Amino acid sequence: MAPIHHIILLVSLLFISSAASAVSQPANLLKPTQTVPKISAAAKAFTDAHNKARAVVGVSPLVWNQTLETAARWLARYQREEKKCEFASFNPGKYGANQLWAKGLDVTPSLAVETWVKEKTFYDYKSNTCAPNHTCGVYKQVVWRDSKELGCAQGTCKNESTVLTICFYNPPGNVIGQKPY
Ligand SMILES: *[C@@H]1O[C@H](CO)[C@@H](O)[C@H](O)[C@H]1NC(C)=O
Ligand SMILES: *[C@@H]1O[C@H](CO)[C@@H](O)[C@H](O)[C@H]1NC(C)=O
Ligand SMILES: *[C@@H]1O[C@H](CO)[C@@H](O)[C@H](O)[C@H]1NC(C)=O
Repeated sequence: MAPIHHIILLVSLLFISSAASAVSQPANLLKPTQTVPKISAAAKAFTDAHNKARAVVGVSPLVWNQTLETAARWLARYQREEKKCEFASFNPGKYGANQLWAKGLDVTPSLAVETWVKEKTFYDYKSNTCAPNHTCGVYKQVVWRDSKELGCAQGTCKNESTVLTICFYNPPGNVIGQKPY
């Protein structure tokens, strides 16, 4: 088989101040009869890959959230139909976000998350710094302790052989000046 030439690019949102995550929220009303909703195989793969990396550093697991999934799906579809699957640029709003753009390979949900987690190698926890030319923000968002929920989606542009993966997180991570855990 011919070698597969591919390119992968990563990006994450940075939050300028801790005020971004300090929005007060109404108390969560948990109904005792609440059942765990069924999630898709892709949702499970995204969630499991995040929680594997979180467990390694002793951070509690993320839970899949339908609202975040819908937001990610809407954005991925827009980027596919209007922007040839390029990175989305948008205001941080209230969610954290990780993106992965890949050309020339089939990006499964687990591969996308594992690619973000690989940035861990370049992250120095003690000084909370990243090696030059690396994007540790994607790793930090994956393991950000204060983030509790995630929702992700992918867009595929066959003509360009590109895949865009987008995950949203709530509350957002990558608050500037804070460590992930
Ligand atoms: C999902 O996230 C939305 C937006 O942050 C929130 O309003 C909603 O309560 C969450 N749903 C669940 C089931 O936690
Ligand atoms: C970082 O990237 C720039 C521009 O591509 C390059 O000039 C520089 O040598 C790189 N630095 C390191 C440490 O790889
Ligand atoms: C994909 O490429 C074909 C052939 O060049 C073209 O007809 C079609 O409009 C393209 N589709 C998109 C979504 O760009």
